[in-house]
Amino acid sequence: MRIKKLPEDVINKIAAGEVVERPASVLKELIENSIDADADRIEIRIERGGKRLIEVKDNGRGIHPDDILEAVRRFSTSKIYTIDDLFSVSSYGFRGEALSSISSVSRFYLISRHKDFTLGKELLIEGGEFRHFSDVGAHQGTTVRVRDLFFNLPVRERFLKTEKTELKHTTDVFIRYALYHTDISFRFSADGKVQYVLSPEETESRIKRLFPAVKELIYFESEDKVGRCYGYISPDYATGRGYIYVNGRPVKNKSLMRVIRSKVGNNFFTLFLELPPYFVDHNIHPAKIEVKFRKERSVYQLVKKSLENLQKPTIVSHLSQKNRRYNSEFKVLGQIDNTFIVVYCCGDVYFVDQHIASERIHYELLKRKFLSEGISPSGSSSVEIKLDPDQIEKLSQLKYHIEKAGVRFDIKGNSIVITGLPPNIKEHKVRDFIISLSESEFPEAEIDTFIGDIACGESIDAGDILSSEEAKKILQLWIETDSPNLCPHGRPIYYKISVDDIKKKVGRK
Ligand SMILES: Nc1ncnc2c1ncn2[C@@H]1O[C@H](COP(=O)(O)OP(=O)(O)O)[C@@H](O)[C@H]1O
Ligand SMILES: [Mg+2]
Repeated sequence: MRIKKLPEDVINKIAAGEVVERPASVLKELIENSIDADADRIEIRIERGGKRLIEVKDNGRGIHPDDILEAVRRFSTSKIYTIDDLFSVSSYGFRGEALSSISSVSRFYLISRHKDFTLGKELLIEGGEFRHFSDVGAHQGTTVRVRDLFFNLPVRERFLKTEKTELKHTTDVFIRYALYHTDISFRFSADGKVQYVLSPEETESRIKRLFPAVKELIYFESEDKVGRCYGYISPDYATGRGYIYVNGRPVKNKSLMRVIRSKVGNNFFTLFLELPPYFVDHNIHPAKIEVKFRKERSVYQLVKKSLENLQKPTIVSHLSQKNRRYNSEFKVLGQIDNTFIVVYCCGDVYFVDQHIASERIHYELLKRKFLSEGISPSGSSSVEIKLDPDQIEKLSQLKYHIEKAGVRFDIKGNSIVITGLPPNIKEHKVRDFIISLSESEFPEAEIDTFIGDIACGESIDAGDILSSEEAKKILQLWIETDSPNLCPHGRPIYYKISVDDIKKKVGRK
């Protein structure tokens, strides 16, 4: 057979496969275009999980009437002009592929009025074929309606999940952008029901609007020569949700997620990284969700440091300010379930988990020891672990740090023989630690978790009865720790209810 160039519509359909995977990917592209057009109002309508309709309406600058036909052609973009621009793009789009791809696999309707014109244009394309193009009266801005996605590609259509699942994905895309662009008003409705109406607001209140279950947020921040990292953690909402942004772009990166989870556990978080553009490679994914970092380690270092800089909760700042005297505004009310110390402070009742608070205290003491003279071993052992030569090699490189964590060991051929154990820790935990360390890409995170395990063994347990003196003592020490919000494994340390909420519940307010 002879070689032929593929017809344009076939090329477009193939390309569409890269950009358009499902309704959520269409929504992502359309929202990004609206944001790139400087819209400050974006309205989204979804029907049947986006299978029937994805509509995005904005009040941005609109498309110049002479550019509309160009906009739906492949590799047509108004956002970069030269190859050099590629390295400094600040807009979301720049590949000029989205509209052409989407319009080749749906019934695509676009109406737009550019800010300098009194009349708009409307355009209809079905499965890549022009149907209609004309002048029309319109508000400033652009509306795109994508109907019947993949109507002309039944095989792809069959790959879509249920309407419920597709709606979950589109909602998640919406949340990712709404969470960051807090100065934009959004409206999101699905099957005629309004799900979110958002006005411009601070990040904290935007998070709480999008996630009503989040009652409290703790701010964190750090900056070094690599860049800036900041964000929020919710101590009371632990469902494994977390959102990462790099230079304003929502991204996914498994290793970075692991680093964050090792610090915050399952708690909800949003994390914003600001890095010089050359640290970040967005282009590994055609839809630009996955991101790769150059100088990964320094980026992770920055992230970790920021997560160690959690702002103190009210109870803590209040107590530390009042020269640490228990006054009428601070009252230990008692202990419940032999597990929680109950404290009243400044209009809130706190339930402090005694074990986790105690763990935080010991963890910080141990961490300081680890970083200075080292933790001394207290027990002896003769556990032997057989490992591969490269695992042994890795452990021998890390020997100095392992010994500072209180573990002594000898290398005998293909085995590690543990000879000394840190205090209050089971042999099998030490064994697990050595094995995961020998396989890990993140030895620092492993050692950190291990120090948390030692702290756990040294702490008072849930179930221990405390005298009120002991309870006060724990609170005092806990308040003085550097990160009183979360336990070393990332669990929240306390739960609080405001007296106002209690009043509302009983109809007093
Ligand atoms: N909502 C919008 N408002 C204004 N201009 C838009 C909008 N959507 C698309 N455009 C214009 O159409 C062009 C093509 O869009 P797209 O295919 O998404 O490519 P890209 O965003 O990569 O440039 C954009 O560069 C922009 O000029
Ligand atoms: Mg785009």
